[in-house]
Amino acid sequence: MRPEAVIKNNKNDSIKNIIISAAEIKEKIRETARLLDERYRGKPLLLVSILKGSFIFLADLCREMTIPCEIGFMRVSSYYDGTSSSGNVNILMDLDCDISNYHVVIAEDIIDTGRTLSEVIKLLKSRSPLSLEVVTLLDKPEKRLIDLKADISLFTIPDLFVVGYGLDCGEKYRDLPYIAEYPDE
Ligand code: IMP
Ligand code: MG
Repeated sequence: MRPEAVIKNNKNDSIKNIIISAAEIKEKIRETARLLDERYRGKPLLLVSILKGSFIFLADLCREMTIPCEIGFMRVSSYYDGTSSSGNVNILMDLDCDISNYHVVIAEDIIDTGRTLSEVIKLLKSRSPLSLEVVTLLDKPEKRLIDLKADISLFTIPDLFVVGYGLDCGEKYRDLPYIAEYPDE
């Protein structure tokens, strides 16, 4: 809801309120990359993108980092029907490597209830990585059902449904370069 949010790159008339601009995201990603550079320099590092929502975030983050890393992907069932949670978490696509020799950093798009991430964490911990941390682009703490906190959270947002920069509503809007509020019809 910002006046300056008149919208460059707007591809959808229904999207009106940018809550985090592309420039703000870029700046935070730079800071986060420096943090990860420091923490993991000289260590075998695997960045795990939780698909589909974190694909842009991870792509930008790993390119800002100056230390080497490997990339893995997991796909977890999105239980969002439209804009509200419906309950179950399933692993639809798993990592294709043994993580026991890696420091693992999970990159998530957004933590809402915490259900998705808590299942992913449980599963990956059971595989004994050297260490495990979570970095999330967005944190929506108001609806948390599971006591879970990311090690690094780039932005905390109120309980809004948001789209863009990888996040979707019904598979749309992932391609927007900023985070915008999805209009409540
Ligand atoms: P949680 O399991 O409730 O924490 O939800 C996490 C997943 O729900 C995220 O990875 C997203 O895919 C989806 N999600 C939660 N909130 C939003 C939102 O505001 N916009 C788009 N997707 C969301
Ligand atoms: Mg997601």
